[in-house]
Amino acid sequence: MMDNALQSAAANSRRPSCVIVGAGGHGRVVLDILENTRTCNVIGFVDSNPQLRGTRIDGKPVLGGPDDLPAIRDRSGIRHAVVAIGNNGVRRDFASRLEATGFTLLNAVHPSANVARNASLGRNVVIAAGVHVCCHVQIGDSTILNTGCIVDHESMIGTATHVCPGARIAGRVIIESGAFVGIGATVIQNLRVGCEAVIGAGAVVIRDVDPMTTVVGVPARPVFKSAPARDLEPYLTAEPVLA
Ligand SMILES: CC(C)(COP(=O)(O)OP(=O)(O)OC[C@H]1O[C@@H](n2cnc3c(N)ncnc32)[C@H](O)[C@@H]1OP(=O)(O)O)[C@@H](O)C(=O)NCCC(=O)NCCS
Repeated sequence: MMDNALQSAAANSRRPSCVIVGAGGHGRVVLDILENTRTCNVIGFVDSNPQLRGTRIDGKPVLGGPDDLPAIRDRSGIRHAVVAIGNNGVRRDFASRLEATGFTLLNAVHPSANVARNASLGRNVVIAAGVHVCCHVQIGDSTILNTGCIVDHESMIGTATHVCPGARIAGRVIIESGAFVGIGATVIQNLRVGCEAVIGAGAVVIRDVDPMTTVVGVPARPVFKSAPARDLEPYLTAEPVLA
């Protein structure tokens, strides 16, 4: 899209204009959520795949790569973004990078999601269709609560985690930073899932999960532990808020 077209697309709306960073499957989901909520005006996508540049994804142009973001910001005045990258670590890194270059990260909450009034959400949080977030839940920055998952009372979900479709987190559970809860998995109450742990699809977790450990099955058992890829310091270490 030409600069002047970008500028007029941004100016012709009273809602804040934003870009979606990541034009893959999750980017499409985020576009659908933002178009349903009508809280912001999506101007287009940014994606690091050069082959996508100039194409359209669900009607929105791919404006360039991540390195083009400062120019997009300066030329169009767009200051808002949602980082829609599936990989937890990459999403967290892009979110930091965008905030450092002056972007405000928006949340995308589907209108069919049920979020308790006293739940707290960080920034760049995506809550997909049909999600239930119960009372006193805390959701960290750049976390994805995917289609139809349930997070029950007083649970704490750390930064840049992904709770996949249909997963169920019981009450007073702590999911630390970077963890991945697979599709349809269940975590029973009062447990702690360590940072960057992976819970396999359909697993039923009945014991704490160590950081960076993959567990699968019913009941869930460790299958392997990955080599540390980055600083292990959890982003979320506080105890659950007990009523
Ligand atoms: C757990 C998971 C990450 C492991 O993937 P992986 O690293 O490629 O590991 P492998 O496929 O080599 O599996 C390792 C072992 O665990 C078993 N296993 C893997 N996933 C399993 C699961 N969900 N349930 C039960 N057993 C599982 C495999 O059979 C294998 O067992 P074996 O060593 O006896 O043959 C993956 O299988 C999984 O469940 N991913 C979740 C996907 C998801 O939720 N997607 C939704 C995206 S929105």
